[in-house]
Amino acid sequence: MCGIVGCILKNNKNAAPVLLDCISKLEYRGYDSIGIATVSDGINIKKDKGKIKEVDSKLDLADMPGHYGIAHVRWATHGDPNKINAHPHTDETESVAVVHNGIIENYLDIKSQLEEEGHVFKSDTDTEVIPHLIQKYMDKGFDLEDALRETIGIIHGAYAIAAISKNEPGKIIATRKDSPLIVGIGEDGYYLASDSPAILEYARDIIYPEKGELVIIDENEVIVKDEFDNVVEKEIETIDWTPEMAEKEGYDYFMIKEINEQATAVRNTLTEKSTIQEIIDDLGDISRICFVACGTSFHASITGKYLLESIAGIPTDVILASEFKYSANTLNEDTLVIFISQSGETADSLKALDLANKTSKTLGIVNVAGSAITRRADYVIQTQAGPEIGVAATKTYVSQLTAIYLFAALIADDEKLLEDVYKVPDFIEELLKEVDSIKAMSKKYKFARDFFFIGRGYSYPIALEGALKLKEITYIHGEGYAAGELKHGPLALIDEGIPVVVILPPGENHRKTMSNLEEVKARGADILAVGSKEDERLKLKSDDLFAINDDVNEIIAPLVYIVPLQLLAYYVAVEKGLDPDKPKNLAKCVTVE
Ligand code: F6R
Repeated sequence: MCGIVGCILKNNKNAAPVLLDCISKLEYRGYDSIGIATVSDGINIKKDKGKIKEVDSKLDLADMPGHYGIAHVRWATHGDPNKINAHPHTDETESVAVVHNGIIENYLDIKSQLEEEGHVFKSDTDTEVIPHLIQKYMDKGFDLEDALRETIGIIHGAYAIAAISKNEPGKIIATRKDSPLIVGIGEDGYYLASDSPAILEYARDIIYPEKGELVIIDENEVIVKDEFDNVVEKEIETIDWTPEMAEKEGYDYFMIKEINEQATAVRNTLTEKSTIQEIIDDLGDISRICFVACGTSFHASITGKYLLESIAGIPTDVILASEFKYSANTLNEDTLVIFISQSGETADSLKALDLANKTSKTLGIVNVAGSAITRRADYVIQTQAGPEIGVAATKTYVSQLTAIYLFAALIADDEKLLEDVYKVPDFIEELLKEVDSIKAMSKKYKFARDFFFIGRGYSYPIALEGALKLKEITYIHGEGYAAGELKHGPLALIDEGIPVVVILPPGENHRKTMSNLEEVKARGADILAVGSKEDERLKLKSDDLFAINDDVNEIIAPLVYIVPLQLLAYYVAVEKGLDPDKPKNLAKCVTVE
């Protein structure tokens, strides 16, 4: 959802190649357009519509003078994805350049006011008001720092902003509110970024600016000031992600690399067990739990509800973050509100977290250290998936589930469940060896226009997540349904040759789901089943079967059975010639409501 970077390099090193490298690592946040600005004699800008590779081959983005600058990848919110709307944006005199991630809600009012004052705008973006405001204040005699301070007193909305001015060379000023921004301290210079993968190669000592703080960087130092102009002593935190973790390492796409890293992601997240036990001990009595999340994290939350209600007997709700405000009145101090988010920056979830913090205890289950949810929730469980670059969540999802299973098993003191969860990495590794059968299925099903995914109980959220993965990266319509619900409406859509993915692990729901399979088969559906290797009846009844170790029972199935569905979506996308890492219209970190 737009990504920004900035850097100032020591010893007059050329900044453009570094800016290009850093912003390339953030392409998962937006791929509508790319732009870089550096300062030499004046401000140099290269920008255009398109993915970074395309624009770079046209404009040679690394070939720009200057030892400092800013860069941006865009996921369009206001204004078409075209060259004029691409960042960096400038004032009319091109003396100030700005990159911005977020939304300026009152930009129309500001723009018409500035137009009355004689400013002429070039783009349709909300961002363009920022360089105009900065220049307006600089014309009045303010320096860049104070001009930005004045500007953020006027704009409303969410933002991470980095600004440079040719009239104040050698300096980048940045600030944030409700959009992420980190500052990296490296040997060769100082860096700004929306997310750490951008700068891992250059700096792993990180400062996290808070809302309203101003970051002033020059070649010699980083200064952070609060809203009253006081210098703030910031803690420097070292991140343990390595640059290699954010590289493809020989895989064709990040998504397939990340699918293959899932056993490790689960193993690493299992090491959070003692932290989770400490949180449970500290929480004391909880009479109700609410999960709040979006998208894939919402599907992980449904599994959490089933677990906590069935094994721990705690009434549990699952609420979409964007719909949360309607339920906020029912919270009290005995409610624990759990926020699940891989990025920790999702705007809908942050809004809900601020509401929940007013009444209840809050817990974040988050993959990105230092992200906004980790800083605002009362308790944090950090999933250990490492950086996830592919837009479709895979390894972060199984890591979220791992944290949820640990939490539920520890709360319920369920030793058997704990034992089963510790076997999950081996089950995942075992099934990943059989990827060829999924490749064959993807060739067969790539022409389908509609897919159904069905499952009961713990397999229902697997069906929802399987359908979401298919939709987002293959653009094929997929519906996830509770198997028992089909007969209440959607069965009317089942016809000859419609693929129905039936999720059928061994367990108490098996018999009934098998009947649902028969119902759709009788209406001509193609059955693509995921079930146990020892399920002879399923072998007979399905057109295609992906078979999994019989020891994976229906309770732990969400952690394992999702993997073949991720693979199916991935290989169908590749068969169709699509880029699974960058699905159209989507971005990794959704910082707008
Ligand atoms: C889908 C996907 C999204 C996210 C959703 C919430 O593959 O990744 O549906 O799950 O945008 O994002 P987080 O988990 O960062 O809050």
